[in-house]
Amino acid sequence: MSTKLIAHPRTDDPRSQADATDVILTGDRPTGSLHLGHYAGSLRSRLALQGRCEQTLLIADLQALTDSAGRAAHVAQHVPEVALDYLAVGIDPAQTTIAVQSRLPALACLAILYLDLVTVARLERNPTVKAEVELRGFERDIPAGFLCYPVSQAADITGFRATLVPVGDDQLPMIEQTNEIVRRVNRLGGPPVLTECRALLSSTPRLPGVDGRKASKSLGNAIPLSATNEEIHRLVMAMYTDPGHVRPSDPGRVEGNVVFAYLDAFDQDLAAVAELKERYRSGGLGDVPLKRRLVGVLEALVSPIRARRAELARDRGYVMDVLRAGSERANVTTEAALRDVRGAFALDA
Ligand code: TRP
Repeated sequence: MSTKLIAHPRTDDPRSQADATDVILTGDRPTGSLHLGHYAGSLRSRLALQGRCEQTLLIADLQALTDSAGRAAHVAQHVPEVALDYLAVGIDPAQTTIAVQSRLPALACLAILYLDLVTVARLERNPTVKAEVELRGFERDIPAGFLCYPVSQAADITGFRATLVPVGDDQLPMIEQTNEIVRRVNRLGGPPVLTECRALLSSTPRLPGVDGRKASKSLGNAIPLSATNEEIHRLVMAMYTDPGHVRPSDPGRVEGNVVFAYLDAFDQDLAAVAELKERYRSGGLGDVPLKRRLVGVLEALVSPIRARRAELARDRGYVMDVLRAGSERANVTTEAALRDVRGAFALDA
């Protein structure tokens, strides 16, 4: 089998990567509220693309359950929380469809069909799944649904006929596996019914947690999208910098320094950040003034999001209506894709 190599360029402006005919799908697992890493890595691209292309955001509750079946109520509670996060950052349901994965039965049917095209060995080799299995300490007790979630994600992507998928680089193996499935479906015998997709990577490298480790809700090292100013202050002051930078006059390291990672992601004044890096490297800039600057930048970013979220949270009915209308629209789209795939499998002949 020939494997087509697909370029996944990083871009500062996602709009240069998308044209009006692109169909965009991304998703989030509703296991907690979204944080600044989600904003830098993906929400920002979605906002930039809103209104330019057809776009759907999928709240992937079934995917969340693949490793959290014991916390089903927690997952269910976070479906509207994630929707609130989307709306608070400026996702407009008139331009972007927000849908709930479990309300789209066609996706489950697609996943069942695709499972016949994928080997267990291939699933076990998926680097993202492998890393997550290790992280969660499943060892031999991997839920079958978890091992198969890349197939379910392929169903998500193809169910919407997505051509462009804004994701973090940890999701690249999912895109590759989706495209393998697309090629297999198209080779089943009939005319091709699906098209391959490409990833849209954010220009911001993955944002670390405040301690320099991978940002994660369970570690409490991520800055929530709706953090209070006190939380922002506390988390920024706790940020890992350079342990060798003891006195302000000491030369400091910028690489691996969490404060600079956040400034790179969020400070609009690139020239000022470049100058701060210069001063930090050569010695003469302490951590505290640097952190104060970041606190200001983050407060300016987060305050309007927090205010909008609080306002929207007062109207649960509105959020539920957005999810109902979005899922209804998504049902039409995904049912149509399922009809074509059923055809490729010679069902309904
Ligand atoms: N796996 C993604 C994550 O963990 C979430 C997701 C589910 C997704 N379905 C998707 C992303 C479809 C892109 C496209 O973040």
